[in-house]
Amino acid sequence: MKIFVDTAKLSEIREAISWGIVDGVTTNPSLVKKAIGEEKEDTKLEDYIAEILKVAGKTRPVSLEVMGLTAEEMVREAEILYEKFNDIANNVVIKVPINTYKGYYEGLKTIKTLSEEGIPVNCTLIMTPEQALLAAKAGARYVSPFAGRIDDYLREEKLNMKKGVDFKKHDYYPWDGKGVDDNGIKSGSDLVEKTVIILENYGYDTEVIASSIRNPRQVREVALIGAHIATIPFSVLEKMLLHPKTKEGIEKFSEDAAESGYERLFS
Ligand code: E4P
Repeated sequence: MKIFVDTAKLSEIREAISWGIVDGVTTNPSLVKKAIGEEKEDTKLEDYIAEILKVAGKTRPVSLEVMGLTAEEMVREAEILYEKFNDIANNVVIKVPINTYKGYYEGLKTIKTLSEEGIPVNCTLIMTPEQALLAAKAGARYVSPFAGRIDDYLREEKLNMKKGVDFKKHDYYPWDGKGVDDNGIKSGSDLVEKTVIILENYGYDTEVIASSIRNPRQVREVALIGAHIATIPFSVLEKMLLHPKTKEGIEKFSEDAAESGYERLFS
């Protein structure tokens, strides 16, 4: 499974790349806002984005999202972003929401136009496999089913659990085999699985990016399912490395190395 890092923070992108595990980067307007708040300093937004593209380099696609609500606006913005930034490292992918409140079909029209122009699209805010199928058919290079937000939705809408009170972002919500089932979707991972199966049934080149990942267990589940890519926040990447027995093991090795004079081997 390819791993994208789901952040606009340069420090996190650099660090994750240094671990040798990053195949791409996804950003959205909320992540850009967060990054600017935390680390932009006095850099112009254009320069900050240019730096993300440089750091990611030629081999790692970077998704940049449009903000318009009509196909006309989104195509225009996508062309501007592509023209302004793609020459830096030839790695820009345009993120387009599957639909907007200005019209259900605007996302599809945008994907069709951009893919005909040769601009790669990551279709975002996918909440059903049917949306993903239409996006793939319209020419999307990637589709991004939002696993975490679907788990939130199932818990809020169907279980009447209060966000941040009855469950927190890092909580895991499993399907109990009977309870919650939203029109055939039982969990965020289930959304990802059904999306992968449908696209593979028909041989689409479109890759499925398991998105809105909140915890390591979701990463494991989407990897087992065969998601082509998971885009993972830096904090979840860190958590994927943690286990109390690993910590205990390294403490014991260090202690025993000190007591046995093992460190003299390295002098
Ligand atoms: C990535 O492409 C998405 O924008 C991101 O994963 C959304 O995550 P969130 O639901 O935690 O905001």
